[in-house]
Amino acid sequence: MPQPIEWKVVLIDDEPDIREVVSMTLRDAGYKVFTAGDGKTGLSLCMEKNPQIVITDIRMPGIDGIKVLEILKNDKPDTEVIVATAFGEIDIAVKALQLDASDFITKPISHDALFMALKRAKERWTARMKIKEYTALLEREVVDQAKTLHQDKMMSLGRLAASVAHEINNPLSGVLNYVRLMLRILERGRLSDENNEKFKSQLELIESEISRCSQIVSSLLTFSRKSEPSATRFRAEDLIQRCVLLSRHKLELSKIDLTISTNPGLPDLEGDFNQLQQCVINLIFNAIDAMPGGGALHISAEKFLTDGFVKINVKDTGTGISESDLPHIFEPFFTTKKDGYGVGLGLSTVYGIMEQHKGCVEVKSDRGRGTVFTLLIPAVQSA
Ligand SMILES: Nc1ncnc2c1ncn2[C@@H]1O[C@H](COP(=O)(O)OP(=O)(O)O)[C@@H](O)[C@H]1O
Ligand SMILES: [Mg+2]
Repeated sequence: MPQPIEWKVVLIDDEPDIREVVSMTLRDAGYKVFTAGDGKTGLSLCMEKNPQIVITDIRMPGIDGIKVLEILKNDKPDTEVIVATAFGEIDIAVKALQLDASDFITKPISHDALFMALKRAKERWTARMKIKEYTALLEREVVDQAKTLHQDKMMSLGRLAASVAHEINNPLSGVLNYVRLMLRILERGRLSDENNEKFKSQLELIESEISRCSQIVSSLLTFSRKSEPSATRFRAEDLIQRCVLLSRHKLELSKIDLTISTNPGLPDLEGDFNQLQQCVINLIFNAIDAMPGGGALHISAEKFLTDGFVKINVKDTGTGISESDLPHIFEPFFTTKKDGYGVGLGLSTVYGIMEQHKGCVEVKSDRGRGTVFTLLIPAVQSA
């Protein structure tokens, strides 16, 4: 339950009678009232007591009511100020309102006018506080959200750094061992024929480990958008046929039925053929992995609702992706495949390439029934 507000009023007027009558009326109505006989005392009373509402006379010796209003609005802008003017001083009343007074009442002060003005001042004050609270709440929420985003990012970066270190460290330490061994043998003098053979096979191992490292690094570069794609135009149909040709053997071995459908009259695609081919092949290979006991693969190309994109769908009848894995599948090095089988760079590469092409990749998966990955690839705009 919110606490009821204790309304404090500072009343500034140089006429003692008015101070007495008005403050008595206000106290009777439940207000906490403080009075001052001039502007200067009134202002210091406001600083000390922090009233929500100030009622000030306009004509006073020394600091007059307009000046009191100006200073208050500057130092304590949340204070509601009601000014009391003499009858007929319309121009002064207008000036006070321009200076953001909540209201004006004319003297002699009538009971009704006083309470009407107070009611309005209280409403204004409450509304202002609500807006302030709401703004603070929104600000807090924005800060919280930014924090969470930052934490998420740091977590993926940490995971990424750990996996890169791991993935590159393994082949590198192998390479290092071989190099050390070969150096030691070389130090002993000329190579025997037998060692010559050994060196050859060790150098081959070193070569393949190093090329594994450089493959990892170049996939990461694609993911982090460091290399520019080339732009050529070609038909979606040709891209699909090319990818199918390259994976036909693997599909047959895995007992997977392939069907292809493309909408007639599709606009040409625009992008880097090799990179987009890599995307589709990655999707096909993942689909094959998801159907270890065979299944059906359907690849289709269709126009996207709005012009400017062509959709390529790669749909399998495999295992599907669990809800807990789904948010992570595009992260570099995320894999659910057994050690040494999956590296977890396929989908992050697809993601990176699609970003570079200003397209995107989407996924829909049904646990136990299958998955469909969709590439949205920019098409050549019809003239
Ligand atoms: N078609 C699919 N069906 C089920 N799971 C998939 C499919 N494609 C990707 N995944 C999941 O996403 C993970 C990441 O895929 P990817 O980045 O290509 O790495 P990798 O194939 O080396 O594991 C896979 O390990 C798998 O769990
Ligand atoms: Mg893969």
